[in-house]
Amino acid sequence: MDVIHTVKGLRERLSREPNNVFVPTMGNLHEGHLQLVENAKPRGACTVVSIFVNRMQFGPREDFDKYPRTLQQDCDKLAAIGCDLVFAPDEGEIYPEPQQYAVEPPEIQHILDGAVRPGHFRGVATVVLKLFNMVQPRAAIFGKKDYQQCIVLRNMVRQLALPIDIILADTVRASDGLALSSRNGYLTAAERAEAPALYQALSRAVAELKAGAKDFQRIELQQMAILAGRGWKPEYIAIRRAQDLGQPEAGDADLVVLGAARLGVTRLIDNIEWRLP
Ligand code: PAJ
Repeated sequence: MDVIHTVKGLRERLSREPNNVFVPTMGNLHEGHLQLVENAKPRGACTVVSIFVNRMQFGPREDFDKYPRTLQQDCDKLAAIGCDLVFAPDEGEIYPEPQQYAVEPPEIQHILDGAVRPGHFRGVATVVLKLFNMVQPRAAIFGKKDYQQCIVLRNMVRQLALPIDIILADTVRASDGLALSSRNGYLTAAERAEAPALYQALSRAVAELKAGAKDFQRIELQQMAILAGRGWKPEYIAIRRAQDLGQPEAGDADLVVLGAARLGVTRLIDNIEWRLP
């Protein structure tokens, strides 16, 4: 496995690879990330993983500085599962000058996670477009754990006519239901024991949809209240149209229940897709 730190080195190495499949990450890899790589391997001749903690997608009071950086362990894990190439640039490689041109996603960047994290999806879309231009993959894989990110990026690729297949992969969970996330490492032991309650809240909302409930707002508020009662600070529980995260209307069958909540200092997000019969 090659580990490359510069754009120049990456371009040289990839000039021999017309068929590469790309998994962008911020590192501190867990089984969720590794599943994306496993998913990538059979789809192309060369599997490329980027590891870059992108300052542009973090708010000024967010965890950019304390975000875990574990490059050596990450490379060991990737080598063990047969990844071909790791691109681990430093900030000067990705942002050699102030980034004045940016991808400005439409209204979807301001709802749900975007309402809580202003500028986040602009930072994500901009860095992913840059990484796409550096890696020039045939396909790229993203995890549905970050559902809104998947939609923002899928629409960016379509509207800007990028010749890249976007593949979305299911969320990998711990045995108690908690979605794997680098941020789970911030949880204390007591918080870790409580953390599956977010997935349980989303699961109860889905159970109500399954049972035919139609008063979505009541379901959302009820599940937020349950989390608040257990000591969480819920930001949203939202039942949305899966395709574009708009408010569901009569006849919309493909839904997704999304949630974000703080447990202590840690912000967790999760979602479950549900298709009405
Ligand atoms: P990061 O949070 O490191 O996630 C990298 C990829 O792994 C994303 O596609 C994310 O959705 C996926 N992922 C994370 N946890 C997962 C889980 N439990 N199951 C399945 N997939 C999971 O997302 C980012 O980095 C950044 O925003 C990035 C796209 C790299 C741009 O900077």
